[in-house]
Amino acid sequence: MCFYYFYGVKKIGVFTSGGDSPGMNACIRAVVRTALYNSIEVAGIMRGYNGMIHNEIVPMYSHSVSNIIQQGGTILKTARSEEFMTFEGRKKAFQNLQKHSIEGLVAIGGNGTFTGAKVFYEEFGIPIIGCPGTIDNDLYGTDYTIGFDTAINTAVDAIDKIRDTANSHDRLFFIEVMGRDTGYIALHSGIASGAEVVLIPETLTSIDEIIEILNLGKERKKSSSIVVVAEGDEEGGALEIANKVKEKFNYYSTRVMILGHLQRGGRPTANDRILAGRLGAAAVQGLLEGKKNVMAGVVNQEVIFTPFEDCIQKKKPFSDAFLQLIDLIR
Ligand code: F6P
Repeated sequence: MCFYYFYGVKKIGVFTSGGDSPGMNACIRAVVRTALYNSIEVAGIMRGYNGMIHNEIVPMYSHSVSNIIQQGGTILKTARSEEFMTFEGRKKAFQNLQKHSIEGLVAIGGNGTFTGAKVFYEEFGIPIIGCPGTIDNDLYGTDYTIGFDTAINTAVDAIDKIRDTANSHDRLFFIEVMGRDTGYIALHSGIASGAEVVLIPETLTSIDEIIEILNLGKERKKSSSIVVVAEGDEEGGALEIANKVKEKFNYYSTRVMILGHLQRGGRPTANDRILAGRLGAAAVQGLLEGKKNVMAGVVNQEVIFTPFEDCIQKKKPFSDAFLQLIDLIR
């Protein structure tokens, strides 16, 4: 057992912000329980930065996080705050934290959350540690983000079902998954569901190349095909790309399916719960050791801390091997 001494700091706050992701609750639980284990009080800040600005701050006890490890969503609610983008909003937020004697924060969220956290720390000096909570897996400084594993399993489950009907009707399906700026969900769910084509923002999409692949499938007597499209693909979403393909290739009857926010809900997988537990605990331990302005992440199985600036600005290296795998095993 190892106790940390957080000199002079008696109370921290925890909040979730940006798009919710499965495993956020497991992370909140880990933060609360680790803080209490170290005799530090915890306050829950509702609705992300909005709750900080509007003083929606509640005490949290051990029982406040009972029976939530398996629940999707976030008990603290979440929001994308316009007001926090203004200095006035951030000042109000800081004043409310002072009213509640909160001296350190754990922010669970993605890119936007950490951009806000970085500015907030620079202006008001409050120590903040981030936990990567987003289904997109697009943060530098961690191999996986909390919620990604659940989201790809949800997508794969849906794609498997669509494959059944695609196959029965000899159809071509374009399935759009989330990922505004990145194709992690598309690539991983595409590999796991045996998609014929995966289209992501990180690589250039060619309509002719898609048709070439579909034609090869047709020659190999494939009676149906699945194209997984990341919503942020530069050629457009699934609907737009399906229309472009249909203009030149109409061997199959075509359908489009947009998975949308379905991917953000549901019970977190065991992997997401474990990641959330490790990172929530690490964030509190990091604060106790005097770390600030960093995100806790897991890289090569080890917990590491990366400055917010790098998490926000640096691009996580994308695996070429994964891209090639689609071509090899389609
Ligand atoms: O950032 C996570 C994410 O789910 C993206 O993949 C998606 O583009 C976006 O959030 C959707 O945001 P909203 O819920 O605000 O529509």
